[in-house]
Amino acid sequence: MKIIKVKNQIEGAQIGFDIFKQALENDAKVFGLATGSTPIKLYEVLRNSDLDFSNSISINLDEYLGLSGDNPQSYRYFMTQQLFNQKPFQHSYVPDGVKTDTALATKEYDQIIDKHPIDLQLLGIGHNGHIGFNEPGTSFESKTHVVDLQPSTIEANARFFEKPEDVPTQAISMGIASVMSAKHILLMAYGESKAEAISKMINGPVTEEMPASILQKHNSVTIIVDEAAANKLN
Ligand code: F6R
Repeated sequence: MKIIKVKNQIEGAQIGFDIFKQALENDAKVFGLATGSTPIKLYEVLRNSDLDFSNSISINLDEYLGLSGDNPQSYRYFMTQQLFNQKPFQHSYVPDGVKTDTALATKEYDQIIDKHPIDLQLLGIGHNGHIGFNEPGTSFESKTHVVDLQPSTIEANARFFEKPEDVPTQAISMGIASVMSAKHILLMAYGESKAEAISKMINGPVTEEMPASILQKHNSVTIIVDEAAANKLN
């Protein structure tokens, strides 16, 4: 794992941008993308840049179950606002949160990932070590699946909703095996609340109880952390 400590999210976004730029220059075609607050600065830099993703494919990690892409709380909507409106990709995949046949929705998403192997996967990390919405206890062998969100995740995401009861309790998430299949992984984490998870991810045992710890087994991972998120690292 390559660990890069930055002063703040602005510096982190610049380094993240350089990694995306270099990937494009090296003919990367498929970008795995994340939502949440962590990548917002990076998306701002990307959408205002002259990088051209019109021949690229994006595949998002996850989507809330029950929210359609025109719902402002959906991850599809988030991506459209943060990136796709200004930086269109040839095609942008986000799991379908409203397909009633979720078994089919998950199977189709796996087929998309198989067809478009991910060159660069962007990740944030949950306080409990989740990546995508793969909560502690998720099998390292998992592919796309329906997830019951943990109370701590629902609470952490309530800030994006009017009322805590509005936060969906389930999501569709790319699995851990799918994340691990990416050629290169870039994980970013900012703030004190991520310090414990970052320390366990890097120095703790590799265990399904700490989903992000599996990244120790990947051969090309870059971690961008600010000082607060790095403060429990030895
Ligand atoms: C989002 C995702 C999640 C977030 C994580 C951190 O697509 O997959 O794993 O990366 O919950 O969220 P933030 O960035 O809001 O702290």
